[in-house]
Amino acid sequence: MTKVEHCQIINIKKISSHKGSLSAVESDVCIPFNIKRIYFTYDIPSGAERGGHAHIHQHEIVIAASGSFEVVLDDGFNKNTIFLNSPNKGLHIMPGIWRELKNFSTGSVVLVMASDVYQESDYIRDYIEFERSI
Ligand code: TYD
Repeated sequence: MTKVEHCQIINIKKISSHKGSLSAVESDVCIPFNIKRIYFTYDIPSGAERGGHAHIHQHEIVIAASGSFEVVLDDGFNKNTIFLNSPNKGLHIMPGIWRELKNFSTGSVVLVMASDVYQESDYIRDYIEFERSI
């Protein structure tokens, strides 16, 4: 069974100069899976909450590309809230973990790298069903 403590922060190298900062992510190099999909959420209204699901097989890395927000991780027994506010830190969310994203700052952008293409069949969107799946 996957536990919340298996979801680690990955430090992404930051290359800074007088022109600003740059971070690069390469499949299987600084993250432990092959990236098949990237998506980003933005224009998030104040007070909105996103997520509210678990994946059956997919791994994801969540990055606060801009601004900040909280990710509540839940393995069905324990919860852990992670605050993300740095574009060079990625939260690796394992399959079998329920996640909720909340407390978005104004203008925040959530960047997600996923191990597979979008497949609704990989989602568990009902919390009771999630508990039963554990
Ligand atoms: P949803 O999973 O509810 O987003 P979040 O977890 O950020 O709250 O997805 C919102 C809608 O977008 C839903 O209709 C599914 C669709 N969607 C895609 O078409 N492709 C994707 O890669 C993702 C992540 C979602």
